[in-house]
Amino acid sequence: MSFTVAIDGPAAAGKGTISRAVAAHFGFAHLDTGLLYRATGRRVLDGLEPVAAARALRPEDLARDDLRTAEVAQAASKVAAIPEVRAALVDFQRAFARRAGGAVLDGRDIGTVICPEAQVKLYVTASDAVRARRRFLELSGKGADVTPDGVLADLRERDARDSERAAAPLAAAADAVVLDTSALTIDEAVAKAIAVINARRG
Ligand code: CDP
Ligand code: CDP
Repeated sequence: MSFTVAIDGPAAAGKGTISRAVAAHFGFAHLDTGLLYRATGRRVLDGLEPVAAARALRPEDLARDDLRTAEVAQAASKVAAIPEVRAALVDFQRAFARRAGGAVLDGRDIGTVICPEAQVKLYVTASDAVRARRRFLELSGKGADVTPDGVLADLRERDARDSERAAAPLAAAADAVVLDTSALTIDEAVAKAIAVINARRG
């Protein structure tokens, strides 16, 4: 039987960190759906047309090590507003969600559009300042040429575009549990997520 955990929220809220830990804890598979949009955005930066790029996406495209840059994140957010791009990526995500043994998917529209029937929905968020600091530390730690103000502006621009688009905008599902990680360590945030899932598993 399938068991789906949907984790949505704005940029750098801790979705991926919590998803990976939860998947390891329960033995579920994990799909970072942002990588689908990042890989599509990457190929658009390389000159491909967005819808063709999304339709041609292969699993191995998600493993590229150049998908975590600010430039690719912005390109991802732009292609993600195109309804035909989103449509091209739906079947893969839904099949992943239904796999036997349980699945965690994190993104922006998992609980609202991709898996409205998910057994657990979490909306992970944190203040703009906290999210920008986390992403700044992450990117500068990898040697990227970024500034705190630049990262904050980048996150705000992306969140606004993701929230205001007509196609599957970033939003908490009505039945999502909101997890504000602003004042939480990673371990505390993961423990809360695990508690919510345990409560739903019965
Ligand atoms: O997936 P998403 O963009 O929502 O965020 P992430 O990549 O999981 O987390 C962004 C950064 O914040 C990572 O470097 C995490 O280690 C860090 N983080 C944290 O410091 N405290 C938390 N409670 C969660 C994440
Ligand atoms: O890690 P971070 O939260 O910064 O970004 P991400 O999850 O890798 O997503 C990159 C971009 O892809 C987002 O800004 C969204 O525009 C888009 N995205 C989306 O539209 N729907 C999803 N389910 C996942 C990502």
